Amino acid sequence: MPYGTMLQVIKHPLIDHYLTRIRDIDTSCARFRDLVGCVGTLLAYEATRDVKQEEVEVQTPMEKCTGLRFANNVCIVPILRAGIGFSDAIVSLFPDAHIGHIGLFRNEDILEPVEYYKSLPIQIGQGPVLLVDPMLATGGSAIAAAKMLKEKGCKDIRFICLIAAPEGIEKFHIAHPDVPIYTAAVDRQLDENGYILPGLGDAGDRIFGTL
Ligand code: PRP
Ligand code: URA
Repeated sequence: MPYGTMLQVIKHPLIDHYLTRIRDIDTSCARFRDLVGCVGTLLAYEATRDVKQEEVEVQTPMEKCTGLRFANNVCIVPILRAGIGFSDAIVSLFPDAHIGHIGLFRNEDILEPVEYYKSLPIQIGQGPVLLVDPMLATGGSAIAAAKMLKEKGCKDIRFICLIAAPEGIEKFHIAHPDVPIYTAAVDRQLDENGYILPGLGDAGDRIFGTL
């Protein structure tokens, strides 16, 4: 891969196992949501492996000792709507996280993102930002969302997705060479409608049961 550490494909038998169930057309909506959340937490675990920590004194029932905590709160930003289904489980890993929302949908005729909502916490520039969306297809949505975060002063953005297409990775890397991508899989290609092959179909529809 020509992207070095800026593309991290997280390998683990648990991820393979969950992802296979996620891809399966016969997996129910409820199970799909659970599994997407499971993989989301595993990816977020890896994506925050190197966040800045600080020492803090803690009193155990026995004595004082030194512990470690995040130096800055993590901020989590799902891209609506499918990102919500992905971020709910990730938020449970970071209960103190600030949460932002970016509403984008793909215009399916021109495959360009259309912005319809934005709400970002004022503290968002201070710490690591996990930008989350299950699918990186053409890259349009993730590129637009990362741009919006940078306009708000975010310097440490990490993009987390379930499945990425080679076309989207390349476009995203050109637009945001400083933003690492954490993904569970890099699939083969996009089809003529901008859907990932083999992929999982429409993530939002499968999460929210709007098929
Ligand atoms: C899906 C997905 C991404 C986007 C990826 O969202 O969740 O946001 O498509 O495609 P791209 O890389 O080509 O931009 P969609 O637009 O279907 O909206 P939804 O989340 O509301 O279903
Ligand atoms: N969005 C999805 O939900 N699935 C794809 O395969 C591509 C974009």
